[in-house]
Amino acid sequence: MIILAIESSCDDTSVAILQDKKLLANVVSSQVAFHNKYGGVMPELASRLHVEKITYVIKEAIATAKISLEEVDYIAFTQGPGLIGSLHVGMQAAKTLALLYEKPLVPIHHLAGHIYANRLNQEFQFPMLALVVSGGHTEFVYMENELKFKIIGSTLDDAVGEAYDKVARVLDLGYPGGPIIDKLAHQGNPIYPLPLPKNDRSFDFSYSGLKSAVINLIHKLEQRHESYKKEDIAASFQKVATDILIQKTERVLKQIPVRMIAIAGGVAANQALREKMQNLIDKKFKNVALSVPSLSLCGDNAAMIGMCAYYRILQNHDNAPLDISALATYSIEKF
Ligand code: KG4
Ligand code: ZN
Repeated sequence: MIILAIESSCDDTSVAILQDKKLLANVVSSQVAFHNKYGGVMPELASRLHVEKITYVIKEAIATAKISLEEVDYIAFTQGPGLIGSLHVGMQAAKTLALLYEKPLVPIHHLAGHIYANRLNQEFQFPMLALVVSGGHTEFVYMENELKFKIIGSTLDDAVGEAYDKVARVLDLGYPGGPIIDKLAHQGNPIYPLPLPKNDRSFDFSYSGLKSAVINLIHKLEQRHESYKKEDIAASFQKVATDILIQKTERVLKQIPVRMIAIAGGVAANQALREKMQNLIDKKFKNVALSVPSLSLCGDNAAMIGMCAYYRILQNHDNAPLDISALATYSIEKF
C-alpha cells in the first residue's frame, strides 16, 4: 500500500510517501525564514507560501521515493486543527490529486499525527498515554487502543510551545523560540524563582501566568538597571516549564495505569523535557515504556500524517471515524 501524505497546518509545507510503514520520502519546506522578521507566523503569508511551494514539494517527494503518482493508493492530508488558510492549501492539493488519479482521501487530525510520529521508530503498547506538547496544544491524551483518543487534561490558556515563543520574543531571540531557549538554558543557571503554574491535583496546564511572570521579571530587572544574562532567564523559565510537565505526568501515571508513555509535538524536541521524562520513568515507573519521536519528526511533517493514515486505512476509516477529529477546527466533507 502506498500513501502520499500532505501536511500544511502551519508554517511547514511537507509531503511524505510511505510504503506501508516504510518511509520512502519526507520532504519538509520550512517557512521560518519568512516569518522570522515578524516574530511569529503570519497566517496570510503562510497560506501564500504553501500555494507557492506545494507542487515542488510533491514533485520532490515523488522523485525521492522513486514512484509515480499512478502507483499511490491513498492520499492523506491534515484536516485540522491549524491555520485555516494553510490547511486549505494542503486539502485542495490532496483533493486535486484524488480527483485526477481517482484515489481515496484520508483526512488526519494533526495531533493524532504528532502522536503517530512515534510509531515511525517504535511499536505502540496499549493502553498508553501521550503528552502532546506543541505550539498550539498541551494535552494528555489517553489511548486505550489503536486510534482511540481521549483527552484527559489540557491547557486552560497558552500552550507550552507558545510560552517558549513569547518568552523568546521578549528576549529578542527570534522565532521559533523553543529551540533557541532550549539551547540558551543549557548555558545558564535557573537563578530566578518563578511560580510553578497550575500546581494542583488536576491534569490541566496553564502557561499564560508563567509567561507573564517572566515578562514582569525582565521589566523589573530593566527598571532597576540590573544586568542579567538571557541564558539565566532561559534556564529559569525552562526549568519551571518542563518541571510542571513532569509533575503532572507523574500524577497521571500514578492514577491511570498504562504500558507506554509517548511525547509528541514540537516541544518533544526539548532536551530538558526528554531527560527529565527519562529520569521519571527510570526512577518511578520502570514498567512503563517511554517513546520519544526522532528529533527530525518532532516538528510538523507529513511522515507522521502518513503513518497515522496507514493505521486508519487498516481500520477502514470510512467505518471507524477518528474520535479526535471531532475537535478539528476545519471540517471537511467526503470527496
Ligand atoms: O508541533 P509544532 O512543530 O507545531 C504545532 O503544531 O504547533 O510545534 C512548534 C512549537 C513551537 O512553539 C516551538 O517553539 C516549539 O514547538 N519547539 C520547542 C523546541 N523545538 C520546537 N520548544 C522547546 N524546546 C525545543 N527544543
Ligand atoms: Zn504540530
